Amino acid sequence: METILIVDDEKNYLLVLEALLVDAGYEVITSDSTTEALKITMSHDLDLVITDMRMPGPDGMEFLAQLRGRQPDPPVIMMTAYATVEKAVEAMKRGAFDYITKPFKNEELILTIRKAIEMHRLKQENRLLSRELQERFQFGNIVGKSKIMRQVYEIIEKVAQTRASVLITGESGTGKELVARAIHFNSPRRDKPFISVNCSALSETLLESELFGHERGAFTGAVTQRKGRFELAHGGTLFLDEVGDMSPALQVKLLRVLQEMKFERVGGTKTLQVDARLVTASNRELDREVELGRFREDLYYRLKVVHIKVPPLRERRDDIPLLVHHFLEKAAEANRIPVKRVSHEALKYLYQYDWTGNVRELENVIERAVIFCDGDDVRPQDLPEELFQQRLPGITKETSGQTQTTSDLAGDGELLPYLGLNQRQVKAINFIKKNSYITNDYYIQINHISDRHARRDLRQMVDLDIVVRVGKGRSTRYVLK
Ligand SMILES: Nc1ncnc2c1ncn2[C@@H]1O[C@H](COP(=O)(O)OP(=O)(O)OP(=O)(O)O)[C@@H](O)[C@H]1O
Ligand SMILES: [Mg+2]
Repeated sequence: METILIVDDEKNYLLVLEALLVDAGYEVITSDSTTEALKITMSHDLDLVITDMRMPGPDGMEFLAQLRGRQPDPPVIMMTAYATVEKAVEAMKRGAFDYITKPFKNEELILTIRKAIEMHRLKQENRLLSRELQERFQFGNIVGKSKIMRQVYEIIEKVAQTRASVLITGESGTGKELVARAIHFNSPRRDKPFISVNCSALSETLLESELFGHERGAFTGAVTQRKGRFELAHGGTLFLDEVGDMSPALQVKLLRVLQEMKFERVGGTKTLQVDARLVTASNRELDREVELGRFREDLYYRLKVVHIKVPPLRERRDDIPLLVHHFLEKAAEANRIPVKRVSHEALKYLYQYDWTGNVRELENVIERAVIFCDGDDVRPQDLPEELFQQRLPGITKETSGQTQTTSDLAGDGELLPYLGLNQRQVKAINFIKKNSYITNDYYIQINHISDRHARRDLRQMVDLDIVVRVGKGRSTRYVLK
C-alpha cells in the first residue's frame, strides 16, 4: 500500500482529503504545518507528498526546497488557488512533480496521484537498471561487452581471489595493465600496495636494484640504502610489465625469489622474506621466446600459473561503439567541454579500421577528434587520414581529411544523436519521445519487421545504454535512459 503525506493548514480540508484518499486505497498521514511535515518525511517511507502552497511559517515552496536533494526523495504535488498558478509552475521548475488548482475534482486528484507514483516507481527502477548495466559492461575501468571480454572478466574474477601468479599477454595497447589492476583491486589485497615495474625501461643493474633494493655503497651512486619494489609490494601485488625483456641473469634471480619469496638487497647480506602476489605482462608471445631460447622455460611456467590472453581490438569490434562512447565522455571531462557525439558515418570508419595500436590508438583518435572538431559532432573529416586507407565492402570512396565534404561521404549523411543506431532504432526513439515508451509489439508495427529482429534491435539499444527495459513478461516496455 502506498503512503501519502498531505500538508495543509486548513484542518477541515485535511479531513476531506484524507477520507478521499483512504477510500482510494492509500495509507494517509496528515500534517497542518510544514515544519512538522519535514520531520515526518524523515521518519516515514513515503511514496508521495501533497502540499498546499500558501501556509503560515515556511510555505509550500520552502518545504519543497528543503525536501529536494534529500534521501528519500518522494515526488511532490502542489495544491494552489487559481490566483497563484504562476508560482505553481515555478514550483515545478524547482522539482515538484505536478500541481493541482483548488478547487479540483476528486478524479482529477486521483489521476495526478497515480501518475506521480507510477513515474516515481519507473524512475527508481531505471536507476537500479542503469547501475546493473554499468556493472555488466565494465569491470573496474575495463570497458567492453564482447563475449571474449566477458570471458576475460570471468577469469579475472576467479583468479583475483587466489594468490596464483598471472601472466597477461596481448598486443600493445590492448589493456594489459588495466587487467593487472583489475586483478589487484578485486583481490583481498586491494587495500595493500599495487607496485608496478617496467622491465624494459631500465638497464640490467638498475632493474636489479629497483626490484630488490640496495644497501648503501652497493655500487657507485648508491649513496643511501633503498628498498626494492618487492619489499614495497609486501602484502599487495607486484606487477612486472614487459617481463619478456628481462635479461637471462635477472631471470635466474627472479625464479629464485618466486620459489622461496626470499632475496637480499643488492650489496646486502640479510635475507628478506616478502609476501607479494606476482602479476606479469608481455606483448611478446613468451612461448615463442622460450622456443628461441631467450626466455627461461622454468620461469615461464612459474609465471603463467594462470594465463590471460587479452584479444586485439579487431577481434572484438562489437566493443568499439561502447569504447568510443566511453572515450568521448573521458575526453570531454578532461578538456572541460560538453560531451560530443559521433556521426553515424564517422563511426562506420572507426568500426572498420584495423586498429593495430588497439584500444590505446582508439583512445588517442577520439581525444584528438574531440579537441579539433568545431561543432558538436565528430565527423569523418575530424578523423586521421589512416582510417580512410583501408577499404571494406560497402565503402567505395577513397577519402582524405582535406578534400572531402560531408555530402561526398555520407550517403544518407544523417547525424544520429546516438552512436551506431540504424534508422529503425531512431524511429523508435522518436516514438518513445512522443509516447514515453515503446513495446516489442509497437516496434514490430512501426518498422514492419519480425519479432526476432525487433528483439535484437531493442537489445542492442539497451546494450548501448540508450534505453532501459522496465517491467516483465507481457508488460515489458522500453523507456529512454
Ligand atoms: N577495455 C578498455 N576499456 C577502457 N580503456 C581501455 C581498455 N583497454 C585499454 N584501455 C586504455 O588504453 C590505454 C592502453 O591500455 P594499457 O596501458 O592497459 O595497455 P597495455 O596492453 O598495457 O599496452 P602496452 O603493451 O603498450 O603496455 C590506456 O589508456 C587504457 O586506459
Ligand atoms: Mg602496458
